[in-house]
Amino acid sequence: MITSKELRQKYLAFFISKGHTVIPSASLIPENDPTTLFTSAGMQPMIPYLLGEKHPAGVRITDLQKCFRTQDIDDVGDNRHTTFFEMLGNWSLGNYFKHEQIDWIYEFLTKELELDPQNLYITCFRGKEEIGIPKDEEAAKLWQEQFKKDNIKTEIVDESEVNGMQGGKIFYYDAYKNWWSRAGVPENMPVGEPGGPDSEMFWDFGLELGLHEASVYKEKPCHVNCDCGRFMEIGNNVFMAYMKTEKGFQLLQNKNVDFGGGLERILAAKQNNRDVFSIDIFVTAIKKLEELSSKKYHENEKVTYAFRVILDHLRATTFLIADGAVPSNKDQGYFTRRLIRRAVRYARDLGINQNFCADIASCYIEVYKDAYIDLINKKEFILNELAIEENKFRTTLENGIKEFERIRWGNRVAGDLSNGRERVIVNGKMAFDLFQSYGFPLEMTIELAKENGLVVDVDEFNEEMKKHQELSRAGAEQKFKGGLADTSEMSTKYHTATHLLLASLRQILGTDIVQKGSNITAERLRFDFNWPEKMTAEQIKAVEDLVNQKITEKIPVEMKEMSKEEAKKIVTVLSFDLDKYGDVVKVYKIGEFSAEFCGGPHVVNTGELGHFKIVKEEASSAGVRRIKAILE
Ligand code: ALA
Repeated sequence: MITSKELRQKYLAFFISKGHTVIPSASLIPENDPTTLFTSAGMQPMIPYLLGEKHPAGVRITDLQKCFRTQDIDDVGDNRHTTFFEMLGNWSLGNYFKHEQIDWIYEFLTKELELDPQNLYITCFRGKEEIGIPKDEEAAKLWQEQFKKDNIKTEIVDESEVNGMQGGKIFYYDAYKNWWSRAGVPENMPVGEPGGPDSEMFWDFGLELGLHEASVYKEKPCHVNCDCGRFMEIGNNVFMAYMKTEKGFQLLQNKNVDFGGGLERILAAKQNNRDVFSIDIFVTAIKKLEELSSKKYHENEKVTYAFRVILDHLRATTFLIADGAVPSNKDQGYFTRRLIRRAVRYARDLGINQNFCADIASCYIEVYKDAYIDLINKKEFILNELAIEENKFRTTLENGIKEFERIRWGNRVAGDLSNGRERVIVNGKMAFDLFQSYGFPLEMTIELAKENGLVVDVDEFNEEMKKHQELSRAGAEQKFKGGLADTSEMSTKYHTATHLLLASLRQILGTDIVQKGSNITAERLRFDFNWPEKMTAEQIKAVEDLVNQKITEKIPVEMKEMSKEEAKKIVTVLSFDLDKYGDVVKVYKIGEFSAEFCGGPHVVNTGELGHFKIVKEEASSAGVRRIKAILE
């Protein structure tokens, strides 16, 4: 079986043989790019060159890029999500285009790696008339020719999202799936940004898995992008030939290619094992964890989940610290801190109560030392930073957990609108205390609460945070300046955005829609609601547009205190149980668009929110969908 080391070598050697020059991976912390905290795709450091600047390494470039994606942190634990990953990349800067790229990548996957072309599926861009970008029939035909060489007959199919795969091999999808730019779909791209249609490769783990039958999509046909788990994207050719201008899309002076392939996923496909943690990179770290915990990786679901969280988070932190993101209370360092503390908390669940982060990091440094020499040079620094952070958290962890247990039994509140069962609330003051005195990031308290069937009053937490900041701002120390101030400001914005989202969903999907869950961090909002099926791209866009319209309208957000009876008359939708609260309640009104009972805090005017973007729409549980959205 091919190893990760061999895959890196094979890939680079292949593209060297096609005239490419290898460049080293850029840092996870972007240089000269204040718009973003982390390098999340290989193309990020390449932007100036895609726009026409001359690259010192020439016009054919290949690389292995370290990537870190924050949006998926709380999805880690399943068989395929990771925050850190390696992206295999090759680039044409105005040199070759679709023909060569499709030819070469097919050759690489099916001949060099010997992936069976029978299990490969392809997607291409459906085109978008409004912006004058045509259907990518050229790419679809080029793929067809490749498969023909192996005597595989391919049908090109459209609308598989609606009608199923219809025996197809190559499928057209809209811009949500087959357009790439840093900002996502064409509408969201700022002027001056490069982007283009893309063509993705998927690996089929097998119809016999029967995944689509067991999923919430059972009334919907399965297709390669349906998320049921049968297919996994392993690579993406972006034909980066456009730039957004004031007057719409224009061709760039160069037609570029940006290929990105997930190293971990390609290895998983090669092993035909859907668990990306089963690849060689994780073997020694898993062994070490098994040794430390006296538990087996596959012992049971809960153990596997904890292993994966730890494996992912400590790999990411090893690389993050190497690139300078040492644990702290702000910016990149806050993510490092969160990841380490979360790993320590999960290790405790496995029975690991002594320092262990450096042991796991050492496994990774050994595994990656040839590919990323930096790790060896900085080994001492990495292990030391991990130990400092772990020590810091361990001194408060046990007491924090005890405090949490106390809270858990001390706050029973009867009556819950959604299911009639009693529900326990961790009030915001307590969550804030856990944060301030015990170093529990809010996200960790929410997670602990959830595991115990409790909910955290996030609004109240934010109020506490605000109060505290006002106090500390007034004081000389200004302890929380920077990171935490920003964190709370962003959470406030996401609160208001959540109200706009619910009102928009009700307008687009119907007034039966109610809130089934909500969770806000400084990076995104997450919102669960009742809806039986995957939202269509049109529905997602309509909701997004409506939220953005309300932002553009700059509507004042008003807070009114009133009696519960009055409140019940004016609120458009009731997401909470009013009986739990006092006689006088707060209602937040956004013009005539939304009136919700809520503890706040909210922005003063919707115009403050920036641009709203839905980054994910997925199943949460049967009959409940989950949206993740960001403000840019
Ligand atoms: N930039 C493309 C991606 O990240 C290759 O999918």
